[in-house]
Amino acid sequence: MENMLKGKNIIVGITGSIAAYKSQLLVRELVKEGANVNVIITPSAEKFVTRLTLENLSRNPVIVEMFSESVQSGGAWHIHKSHECNLMIIAPCSATTLGKLANGICDTSLVAVATALPNEIPLLIAPAMDSTMWLNPATQKNVKFLDEIGVVIIPPEEGDLSSGFTGPGRLPELNVLMDYIKIVLSEKKARIPGYTKKPGKFDFSQNAKITDEDIENAVEKPLLSIDERIENDKWNAELELTKMKQDFSGISKVDFLKGKTILISAGPTIEKIDDVRFISNFSSGKMGFALAKIAHELGADVILVSGPVSIQTPEGIKRIDVESADEMYDSIMNEFYKCDIAIMAAAVADYTPINPYKGKLKKTVVGEKLTVELQSTNDILSTLGTDKREDQTVVGFALESIDEIENGWKKMKAKNCDMMVVNTINKPKSGFRGDENTITILKKDGTQESFPPMSKTACSLVILKRIIED
Ligand code: CTP
Repeated sequence: MENMLKGKNIIVGITGSIAAYKSQLLVRELVKEGANVNVIITPSAEKFVTRLTLENLSRNPVIVEMFSESVQSGGAWHIHKSHECNLMIIAPCSATTLGKLANGICDTSLVAVATALPNEIPLLIAPAMDSTMWLNPATQKNVKFLDEIGVVIIPPEEGDLSSGFTGPGRLPELNVLMDYIKIVLSEKKARIPGYTKKPGKFDFSQNAKITDEDIENAVEKPLLSIDERIENDKWNAELELTKMKQDFSGISKVDFLKGKTILISAGPTIEKIDDVRFISNFSSGKMGFALAKIAHELGADVILVSGPVSIQTPEGIKRIDVESADEMYDSIMNEFYKCDIAIMAAAVADYTPINPYKGKLKKTVVGEKLTVELQSTNDILSTLGTDKREDQTVVGFALESIDEIENGWKKMKAKNCDMMVVNTINKPKSGFRGDENTITILKKDGTQESFPPMSKTACSLVILKRIIED
């Protein structure tokens, strides 16, 4: 590939990003290797680099304004420029310019030239911005689209950002940019859809069949590092999570639970004091319903036994409604024998009134004090743990307020579960009602894995993946 740049016409586009200083080195390097370099910058780029420096380095006039007199060449100069070059690279490319490129908004000379590039001329884009902007779904949508139409995306690197945060968004170093330019110039094709696709990480193709390996990449690797980092760097954990959620966007294509029947309990139970009053808890059912939905999407046949909740039944799921712990016990026992996996996410009442009053208790009859005698309910999970066959997996949830992990292990042992998902009521994004949960998974091989706060959907994915691994 030596000297392959000699005599090549290269357009270097620069947009408004702190990384623009690196493009000056890129221009110098290209010129050093014999290329004829034309630089086009956006007005925002001028806030970071000067026209004078770039003109000196490129030895050519720098173009900024679309309609400035100096660039007019008797008509459509942008068309001529784009047709005359051998390759165009935009580095750094801001989120704004990405958006314009993906939508054909040619209000800068840079986007006008890039949009006018004929198909046989390669366009390389090196996005660089803060992680939040890079991970924003709008940016990702634009990148995905550009990737699909054959623009070569040079993925941003992870590391320290000018904002002070750490994450994906850095413009790669000069040698990486140079390698991309040379490799693309040596390719036979100019537009190469999916060229920079890296499974799990930069997989922009929503229609791609996601393999088990992709899930490993998406879930396991980031989560392990999140786990390590969460204590001292909350920001990173959030970023990794956003990324993970994006990586899971095509999860419904995976069917690693195909052929399995999964029984899930969800929601609270209500234990009647009389015909109008009951004892219950704050469970919303969101965790159990998320598990049911994801298990179904992953190919399982799902039976969902739910206490009273106001959530719609996810499509394709058999739902059995119950009210009391007793009814939940009966329904679960009826279904358990046909299931491969049982996940008990319900917050079952531990006690129920011994003699619920028929009708409505009257104050005039009860007086100042009301004593309701309670008796313990059947422990459904314990019964499953005792009754389970060799081929059945039983998973419990442990909701704790103190010594979570220690109590979780005790509960797991006492109820003979294969796996226990511990959550706490003491953390903000954990336990009942919210859309997120903070879980630790305890496995029967004695290992435990803690996760940062995640949506209940993401928690469900992780839980189901871990069950299948065992
Ligand atoms: N569970 C059950 N039947 C019950 C009580 C609980 O199946 N009668 C299940 C829950 O669905 C959950 C697990 O047991 O999977 C643990 O529930 P949790 O409320 O955390 O613990 P308890 O066993 O009720 O113990 P404690 O309230 O003392 O923590």
